[in-house]
Amino acid sequence: MWDLIIRAFLFILPAYIANSSAALFGGKTPLDSGKCMSDGKRILGDGKTFQGLFAAIFFGTITGYMIGVFVQGTEFAVGNVEFYILLGFFMSLGAMVGDITASFVKRRKGIKRGQPVFGLDQLDFLVVAVLFGSIFYFPGWLEVIFLLIVTPILHGLVNFVGFKLKCKSVPW
Ligand code: CTP
Ligand code: MG
Repeated sequence: MWDLIIRAFLFILPAYIANSSAALFGGKTPLDSGKCMSDGKRILGDGKTFQGLFAAIFFGTITGYMIGVFVQGTEFAVGNVEFYILLGFFMSLGAMVGDITASFVKRRKGIKRGQPVFGLDQLDFLVVAVLFGSIFYFPGWLEVIFLLIVTPILHGLVNFVGFKLKCKSVPW
């Protein structure tokens, strides 16, 4: 049981850090340059910025590196440090592709930037991160199911704390 939880978190941590880093360091130059689609709505909106994207991939990859160093020589190691750097990079990239895709879908449906869509907001980054990461390593189906259950809970907690600390203007 504990093995499963540790394996699941070691796998997903770069994606969690990527997603949080985007929120912490993002917010200036929008990826869509403020442009709209033919439906008259923004392509992505002001919530998806270059600063957020780069911070996510940078800190997510660093997290992969740190996990790689940390697990070497333990039963949890599934590759060398270089492998973990690559895994961290693809997990972060996947997290951002998922997050950006969800924004695109939200805008097409006429949902404004920052307006919540329960389920999509919590799992968008997770699903694509797991897909991208699985190119290199798959932790197991039980681990993935566990992550699908605990991520919305953790997401809610982190956002609530961010709101209380005034890092976020809304509690979601
Ligand atoms: N952020 C960013 N760049 C990204 C992702 C996130 O700058 N690539 C920042 C933005 O300041 C954003 C915040 O992180 O407002 C929270 O991210 P998220 O909840 O994904 O964006 P929303 O503002 O809710 O926008 P959307 O409705 O498009 O999901
Ligand atoms: Mg949001």
